[in-house]
Amino acid sequence: MNAGFATEGFQKRAVDTDVIMVILKLMLTWTNDLSVGVVEIDEQHQELFRRINRLLGALDDRAAAVEVRTLFAFLESYVVCHFDTESKYMDDYALYGYADAEHHKSEHRAFVRDFQEFRTDLESAEPDHLFIAEFSKWMNNWWLIHIQKVDQGLGVFLRGAFPILGRMK
Ligand SMILES: [Fe+2]
Repeated sequence: MNAGFATEGFQKRAVDTDVIMVILKLMLTWTNDLSVGVVEIDEQHQELFRRINRLLGALDDRAAAVEVRTLFAFLESYVVCHFDTESKYMDDYALYGYADAEHHKSEHRAFVRDFQEFRTDLESAEPDHLFIAEFSKWMNNWWLIHIQKVDQGLGVFLRGAFPILGRMK
């Protein structure tokens, strides 16, 4: 190994560490531009963000594995409940022509599958920096993109068909 290679390797590790430190601070913040315009869904997204942030905070604080696993389960139960709510809206109003239901539900299934993979990893080992960085980044990206690209489309459809859904709980 020559000195140049060693220096390059050191610089790469330093950059990776910087990236991880930034990722560790990722938390989800609900703002009005994430609203889908349906009160029940917006309130569930806000509760999801609270549960996600509790989990990310526990990982960031290097909380005990038992606490992290409990928060995983606490979040997962609410994710299932939330996806059921959105599926019910899609099914109840299917006759009015929501065209994205199949794709929307497939995104939910993909989330559950990937979430369970992270959970399986956690059951076999303590969360390390790489796990925390990957999981935090994935959670942030998935929810922000899904809400803005998919859920808001559902909201536009629902409010277009039934304006009262924008006001009722
Ligand atoms: Fe959704």
